[in-house]
Amino acid sequence: MRAESGAEAWLRYAPLDRRQVQKFSSLPSTIVVLGDSVVISAAQNELRRGLHGMLGRSVRVVRSVPPENAIVLGSLDQLRSRNVHLKEPTALGNEGYWITRTTIDRFNCIVITGTSDRGVLYGTFSLLSKIARLEDTRSINEVQQPYVPLRWVNQWDNLDGHIERGYAGPSIFFADGKVREDLTRAGEYARLLASVGINGCTINNVNANPTLLTDEFILRLARIADVFRPWGVRLSLAIDLSSPKSIGGLDTFDPLDANVAAWWKDKTDQIYRAIPDFGGFVMKADSEGRSGPASYGRTAADAANVIARALAPHAGVVFYRAFVYDHHLDWRNLKNDRARAAYDIFHPLDGQFKDNVIIQIKYGPIDFQVREPVSPLFGGLTRTNEAIELQITQEYTGQQRHLCFLTPMWKGILDFDLRVADRHMMVRDVVAGHAFHRGTGGFVGVANVGMDTNWLRHPLALANLYAFGRLAWDPHLSAASIVDEWTRLTFGNDPEVVDTVTEMQLSSWTTYESYTGPLGVGTLTNILGSHYGPGPESSERNGWGQWHRADEKGIGVDRTIATGTGFIGQYSAQVQKLYEALADCPDDLLLFFHHVSYTHVLHSGKTVIQSMYDSHYNGAERARHYVMQWQKLEGKLDQDRYRDILARLQYQAGHAIVWHDAICDWLYRMSGIGDENGRVGHHPDRIEAESMVLQGYVPFDVTRAEAASGSKAVVCSGSSQPCQAKISFEGQPGRYEIEVQYFDLNNGRSKFSVSLNGRPVTEWLADDDLPTTKIDADSSTRRVIRGLTLHAGDEIRIEGTPEGEDPAALDYVEIHPAPQ
Ligand code: GCU
Repeated sequence: MRAESGAEAWLRYAPLDRRQVQKFSSLPSTIVVLGDSVVISAAQNELRRGLHGMLGRSVRVVRSVPPENAIVLGSLDQLRSRNVHLKEPTALGNEGYWITRTTIDRFNCIVITGTSDRGVLYGTFSLLSKIARLEDTRSINEVQQPYVPLRWVNQWDNLDGHIERGYAGPSIFFADGKVREDLTRAGEYARLLASVGINGCTINNVNANPTLLTDEFILRLARIADVFRPWGVRLSLAIDLSSPKSIGGLDTFDPLDANVAAWWKDKTDQIYRAIPDFGGFVMKADSEGRSGPASYGRTAADAANVIARALAPHAGVVFYRAFVYDHHLDWRNLKNDRARAAYDIFHPLDGQFKDNVIIQIKYGPIDFQVREPVSPLFGGLTRTNEAIELQITQEYTGQQRHLCFLTPMWKGILDFDLRVADRHMMVRDVVAGHAFHRGTGGFVGVANVGMDTNWLRHPLALANLYAFGRLAWDPHLSAASIVDEWTRLTFGNDPEVVDTVTEMQLSSWTTYESYTGPLGVGTLTNILGSHYGPGPESSERNGWGQWHRADEKGIGVDRTIATGTGFIGQYSAQVQKLYEALADCPDDLLLFFHHVSYTHVLHSGKTVIQSMYDSHYNGAERARHYVMQWQKLEGKLDQDRYRDILARLQYQAGHAIVWHDAICDWLYRMSGIGDENGRVGHHPDRIEAESMVLQGYVPFDVTRAEAASGSKAVVCSGSSQPCQAKISFEGQPGRYEIEVQYFDLNNGRSKFSVSLNGRPVTEWLADDDLPTTKIDADSSTRRVIRGLTLHAGDEIRIEGTPEGEDPAALDYVEIHPAPQ
């Protein structure tokens, strides 16, 4: 099996076997290319590359209507100008495509066409995808057009190369404050995006650096636009409203000031001179410390419109983000509610935004949590363009260290019926602009791919980028069909691989949810730092408003109209009915909407507390099961990707245990109610490091109690000499697994080794790239040593060698009988 790096993502064009190639024997080997735009050339090269890769064909490219059977690439206008008149399908739209078999001058042809060259490019990718997935193309006749006009990704890249909430290496656009010299990856990224129909990319952090708008920088940005252009991807920029003052030399950035308006107009004109197909701007203002119109008592509409006016002559758009909230809320006031902010601020402005403004709304009212209800703002803007913001980068959903395929969650949001004015009103129709007959609408995905060869680090995470594009193109697609496509394109068509990967992907979001934050409570992660490991206390007693309100009596946020924050009142009457009464509210969002006692009985028949305990343990068990499922695929795909994914799933299974221990211990401490199934707080096979025989190691109190077992670890600090922790095995003779729980800090690469009766068993480096320099739940990591034969009295010794600031900290060891 050929080695694969993942760089090709789903565009591998891997060779099909002889029988499969046979299936496509009727495909012509000549490509007729009509037109000479860079987009048409990209389509032509892609087709050539794909047919060569998959079918081993060397194709001939000609520029006139066929002298033989051919695949014809060209827009409808180009076809007509060559006297090819086809009975065109209606409603092909601006970017749609039509792939059809037809005869031209008695020759059998496949025509890939559209009203624009971009449509032809999309059609080309579609045909290649069908071949890779072994779909029958003999009588193909397919018309497709995107459901949503603006299908953009946002990259949160900083000029120094670091990507905010990026988990796959540095920026593909910027390094050291400049645009990268080598933009090969940027071009390859645009190709990936185009293959799933994405037509725009915002290349810099929404926490925008105004330097990008300086004269000198704009010229450099044009180079990125150049590599995007063949793929029909428009470049756009995140901007900071204060730019007229911070880089423009004005003494104000008041959006209603005439000089400010002139500055934006000049700046925008200048950008279009350098980048004629520039897409527009994305703006985060009055949010998380960013400057905004509030500084001058102006509204979001004032701010958006001054920019929109500058863009309008060029047909550019501005996405104004609705992620605006006060992060200094008084947490003592139970009526305060961050979830209310977007609706409270933007609903009153409905109808005041210019036609080229799109309000970009995160799917839920808080911030990309593992589960949130739909943002009520989608139903609250009937005279304003809207876009949905989804997060491809897994900020709150495991940061590409945990498997979490988000499409089932996204589908739940997109298919949600907001019931506006007594009419069915699905979110997907609102953001497509159809529901309220708007001129435009959009899907925005925060992607944050990086320089890592395989783009998002976890090979299985790329399904989220693929799915985002596919859903923006057609939100009616099911999660199952999308992941089936992605899996075949990524790993080939072996049914066992396809079944296993699709099953794992489709269940992975609820698995992640169940061991992190079930019942709508939020992700329960460390919201003040990494947003990664468990950190339930970090949400409370601060102004950020990501509260879960857990105390000794109960948990959840009362957002009812009757007694709570009134947030539910932002929905239509029908949706209010779903959530307002405790008795009706679905279990999976209960704690988002209601504050209840731990003994409240859910629809499932369980109490809240027992349901949370069970959920955390079951979720971790499911994560463990993924490892076993994956192991069955050994030999069915290339070794590199097989091993890489295996290591990640093993890590996840270990970290899911960190999660259930931390959250369940915390809940138990909080509620005082034990686990009916006797798991919480009981770890029969566990030996705490602090109770082992220590040499060099010293006990260490971990600050956040739930981050280490028994709230303690042992550390080997003060020298670079190894420290030891020893135990004597006292169980029955037999085969065992030893699980070593240790802390892998990112400020050093400590070394561990395990020996049995003085004989080395294994050693490893703690060199994973985890988001912490501390001994905490982010760094807590598990190493599983399988198949050891143990007898009573055997000495198990763990040796840790610190390096840098990393003190080779140990938490505990568990010794389990080996599974049969
Ligand atoms: C989250 C994220 C920030 C980001 C913000 C946003 O809060 O943690 O890094 O800037 O969302 O979407 O603007």
